[in-house]
Amino acid sequence: SQYAIAVFVGSLRRDSFNRKLATALARLAPAEFHFHQLEIGDLPLYNQDDDAHQAQQVLRLKAEVKSADGLLFVTPEYNRSMPGVLKNAIDHASRPYGHSAFAGKAAGVIGISVGAIGTALAQQHLRTTLAYLDVATLGQPEAFLHAKEGFFDDDGNIGAASREFVQGWMDKYAAFIRAHAG
Ligand code: FNR
Repeated sequence: SQYAIAVFVGSLRRDSFNRKLATALARLAPAEFHFHQLEIGDLPLYNQDDDAHQAQQVLRLKAEVKSADGLLFVTPEYNRSMPGVLKNAIDHASRPYGHSAFAGKAAGVIGISVGAIGTALAQQHLRTTLAYLDVATLGQPEAFLHAKEGFFDDDGNIGAASREFVQGWMDKYAAFIRAHAG
């Protein structure tokens, strides 16, 4: 089988470490896994008044999430939680009530930060939201990555010091998505 993975990157920053991480992770996956980074920077701010006529960008996002065999969230931590841009995208794709794109999906949650706790609080908040939305998340291994010199090599791959750990995470993630797909 082939597995299409829809990737939420929680940063819009041009040189985002998390976007770089998402790209590097895709290279560590088995060949039958195909990753697509979702555009969330062009979504309007969520407004419940628009539920009956969702914007084109929202319908696009929902279709991409619905058709995916698995989800991957790669996010920084902003003020000890997930960034607003990511929460905004999740809120959009979860609505209108009864028509969420998320129900029954499986996801991995990972992130990289310049801060010492490496997105732990952001990931915990995100897991709470995903549990409510009926998205099963890979519990172990947890991956709280620290953006320090040498984390990425010159080609944008995971540097030598962290490669084995991140590869181990990807192996578990791939097995989790396969098992969930049945
Ligand atoms: C941060 N940063 C941050 N880091 C962290 O570990 N915990 C935190 O709570 C915060 N809070 C926070 C708030 C805001 C508004 C910004 C802009 C940044 C720092 C953050 O880890 C750093 O900017 C990363 O580089 C963001 O990830 P990307 O954009 O490189 O993917």
